[in-house]
Amino acid sequence: MCIVSIDDAMYEIFGPLSQGAPGNDDSTLRALDAVPSRDILRRVLDLGAGHGRTTFALAQALPDARVTAVEIHEPFVERIAGRARTSGLGDRVNAICGDMAKLDIAAGSIDLIWAEGSIYIVGMERALVMWRPWLRPDGCLAFSDFVRWAGDLSEEARAFWAVEYPDMASEAAVRSRAEAAGYRIVRSFRMPRDAHEAYYVPLEARMAELAGSADADLLQLHEGIRKEIDVVRRYCDEAGYTFFVLQRADNRARVAGEDGSGSVSWAAGR
Ligand SMILES: C[S@@+](CC[C@H](N)C(=O)[O-])C[C@H]1O[C@@H](n2cnc3c(N)ncnc32)[C@H](O)[C@@H]1O
Repeated sequence: MCIVSIDDAMYEIFGPLSQGAPGNDDSTLRALDAVPSRDILRRVLDLGAGHGRTTFALAQALPDARVTAVEIHEPFVERIAGRARTSGLGDRVNAICGDMAKLDIAAGSIDLIWAEGSIYIVGMERALVMWRPWLRPDGCLAFSDFVRWAGDLSEEARAFWAVEYPDMASEAAVRSRAEAAGYRIVRSFRMPRDAHEAYYVPLEARMAELAGSADADLLQLHEGIRKEIDVVRRYCDEAGYTFFVLQRADNRARVAGEDGSGSVSWAAGR
């Protein structure tokens, strides 16, 4: 295969895997269990659905829901659509090729937005504001992101993440951002080691397969991913993926930013 960009190299690495971020069905279902009134969930959006691991975990756990997976990489979209057909879920799982930042979603039309390992693509603060109007009142947003767990990171970890994820927040900062954007925190939990390793172990094996590649982009990514796995494991008490389950809060009067175009502020009554 001729690799023509970093994106192509990324998909060359991740294509054969079964997920694109830390997490497993236990952590997905644990977050889903926190969603209030789960029985009335009908309209679910899975943003940055990747290989569809979360799409199918959600569809299987919510037999009355229709799950729409949104993914920008066409082969992943086809894979989700194909699996939906062959697994008999074609009437409830829909796969759309699109940009999660540019969707035309009717206000109040979604019961649950899911974004495992993908909110960073839009940027957390922007996503919180942009996606909120899509939710019906009391609708929920569940996402996972790589966050700081310790007050201070070790020097090596700090230097690595300053380059690789300069926007990394602490858990407290995520909660504050969510509340400022008009959500209530329903639950948050740190993903356990096995949920991280569900991603890193197969990724490490894939890296070993590709180690002899002559492609410069691939090798550059290879080095970055290898370093990431090493830093995440060695400083696993300092930072990692946390799941946040938020509920749209509507007991306050919104005074600005409802269309996601500006900052959000709230009238008295918080
Ligand atoms: C880190 S992976 C997470 C995938 C999946 N949620 C999981 O947990 O395995 C992010 C995914 O988002 C997709 N993506 C990147 N930019 C996107 C965008 N603007 N809109 C929709 N999907 C996007 C990527 O192709 C990739 O599959």
